[in-house]
Amino acid sequence: MASTWLQVVALTVILVAWAFPRVDCRIRNYKFNVVMTNTTRLCKREWWRSDTEAVIDQAQKLGQAPNVSDAYTINGNPGSVTGCLANGGFKLQVDQGKTYMLRIVNAALNEELFFRIANHKLTIVEVDAVYVKPFTTDTIIIAPGQTTNAIITTTQKLGKYLVTVSPFMDAPIAVDNLTATASLYYSGDVTSTITKLVAPPPQNSTRVANNFINSLKSLNSAIYPTKITKVQSYIDFPYNSTVQLVLQDTGMIAPESHPIHLHGFNFFVVGRGIGNFNPTKDPKSFNLVDPVERNTVGVPTGGWTAIRFRADNPDCHLEVHTTWGLKMAYVVDNGEGPLESIIPPPSDLPKC
Ligand SMILES: *[C@@H]1O[C@H](CO)[C@@H](O)[C@H](O)[C@H]1NC(C)=O
Ligand SMILES: *[C@@H]1O[C@H](CO)[C@@H](O)[C@H](O)[C@H]1NC(C)=O
Ligand SMILES: *[C@@H]1O[C@H](CO)[C@@H](O)[C@H](O)[C@H]1NC(C)=O
Ligand SMILES: *[C@@H]1O[C@H](CO)[C@@H](O)[C@H](O)[C@H]1NC(C)=O
Ligand SMILES: *[C@@H]1O[C@H](CO)[C@@H](O)[C@H](O)[C@H]1NC(C)=O
Repeated sequence: MASTWLQVVALTVILVAWAFPRVDCRIRNYKFNVVMTNTTRLCKREWWRSDTEAVIDQAQKLGQAPNVSDAYTINGNPGSVTGCLANGGFKLQVDQGKTYMLRIVNAALNEELFFRIANHKLTIVEVDAVYVKPFTTDTIIIAPGQTTNAIITTTQKLGKYLVTVSPFMDAPIAVDNLTATASLYYSGDVTSTITKLVAPPPQNSTRVANNFINSLKSLNSAIYPTKITKVQSYIDFPYNSTVQLVLQDTGMIAPESHPIHLHGFNFFVVGRGIGNFNPTKDPKSFNLVDPVERNTVGVPTGGWTAIRFRADNPDCHLEVHTTWGLKMAYVVDNGEGPLESIIPPPSDLPKC
């Protein structure tokens, strides 16, 4: 994501659903040759009543955190939020007895979000465009910049089922604590049925968040092996070198969980813990068999996350922190041939 608050209008949590052509569609079919039909878009966003540029300008002038948002939305609609003409929220229309894939993108500026659908289990098959070992859950946690694909089967009674999006915050930091709602709307005469409800997890549910995060594992099958990089270098990065980076989130001031994104490359999340990373003890518990591979990771409040990658460019992904200048770049040297090197600037590039 770029670092302007103007994008808030366009980016938020986007939820896209495709229906599979076959009810018994298996994970294997999903991977390669599923023809997806009936694309539906549901969008959720972090939303301010004020002009978002005014919000960030004010924060910078005062040297404070910006005002928290006034609502989250699901495909542009916050659902039943007081004082908002929301028409009951976004409706995701589905047919009974089918299998659907939901593409969930957290494009909010600052908040990690929980996602639930009443009476429906979610089978997680992919994060950040990389397959994971499928597992079933009733709650997703997703950080800004992350994507998650979940499969649901619509085998419940004809009716309407509440979808909730709510914040996760396990530090004493102010967040927009409203819940955005949408509904999974079965085709048929369901207007008179009562919407089946689901409560969002408490805002501070570290356990619920960890259950989800700890369930994410790479496929690591014969066809899709997980090639964990052996660490070669910690400081300077010659072309194609492999790097281990420990992200430590134990600041004394506002130690909230932080999403970190690596531009251009995926990384393996080999370890995660609370407190300060212990370089002698902690690597012993690293997962070097099937760690999840992704491009954005939430570093836990008061804890650490160890990642491994080849070459890179990481930055803190809370947009407000980008505004404050919290980003960094690594220089990766050119390799041998043209495909391993940065192309030179065009000869007519204006010189300043
Ligand atoms: C796709 O939509 C059409 C028309 O709304 C419907 O007849 C069909 O059953 C849908 N297919 C799936 C797989 O949901
Ligand atoms: C931020 O919140 C304060 C307190 O509610 C309010 O006075 C101020 O106008 C808000 N700023 C913007 C830009 O909306
Ligand atoms: C949500 O935040 C507001 C403002 O900080 C607070 O007054 C309210 O009690 C909070 N609600 C919940 C459910 O935490
Ligand atoms: C979560 O917040 C609630 C309400 O503020 C509090 O009672 C509870 O102890 C907190 N739970 C944890 C695990 O911190
Ligand atoms: C990068 O390193 C890997 C593992 O050592 C090797 O398989 C691959 O060929 C290298 N790539 C290039 C372009 O040198």
